Amino acid sequence: MKYTVLTLFPEIINAYFATSISARAIQRGIIDYRAVNIRDYALDKHRTCDDAPYGGGPGMLMLSEPLCRALEAVGIQKLSARPSGPQVIYLTPSGRPFNQDIAKKLAAEQELVLVCGRYEGIDQRVIDLYINDEISIGDYVLASGEVAALALIDATCRLVDKVITAESLDEESFSGGLLEYPQYTRPEIFDTIKVPDVLLSGHHENIRRWRLEKRVEKTLRSRPDLIRTGRELGYFNKETNNVIDRLTMAEGDKENE
Ligand code: ADE
Repeated sequence: MKYTVLTLFPEIINAYFATSISARAIQRGIIDYRAVNIRDYALDKHRTCDDAPYGGGPGMLMLSEPLCRALEAVGIQKLSARPSGPQVIYLTPSGRPFNQDIAKKLAAEQELVLVCGRYEGIDQRVIDLYINDEISIGDYVLASGEVAALALIDATCRLVDKVITAESLDEESFSGGLLEYPQYTRPEIFDTIKVPDVLLSGHHENIRRWRLEKRVEKTLRSRPDLIRTGRELGYFNKETNNVIDRLTMAEGDKENE
């Protein structure tokens, strides 16, 4: 997987790829990236990249010319001349909401081109001419599109084959439509709180059942919407459905007491 990131602040992207899982994945040749400074493609001697919006309104917009020249320089043609090729994604609060399913699909691509906005956003004509997909990482407005691009990179990068072990992905949050179970490591007692006995028992089947129950409990509490959708779409097997029924009934009984 190759990430091409167009930004006014390449140092943010460079700092990310210099550390942690992503640095190791680069060393191992599994992923690669380039951070392209849009300012290098500005036309005037002040290297201007923003201007006021037509029609008035607050703030500044990113100019179309430097951004489109940067896209062309990394080999991205206009949509009309580009029947295939890499996904060109603009990170924006007006995009479709990012989630684990989208992360999985994007992780299967060979290259992602990410456009990071600053100021109040980019000129609509850049979107019309070059962008295949607009993605939001949540219902809030960031000052830096780079933070959104890094969230997308971080979520997809770990799903690229061999970056982390497949086992780590099996039972994590959102797999199978449930959130993750609680986890504990040494010491056995910390600040008077003991690791649940079942996890020390060595009884694999009991541990599996306990973890499923905890996943359902946590999902019911933090994200009941996931349980509703999971039910509607038939994500859950019989065992999970039984646990959901039991815990919802127990909750109902408590409320009626
Ligand atoms: N840029 C600013 N806010 C954003 C958001 N919530 N998601 C993606 N890009 C953004």
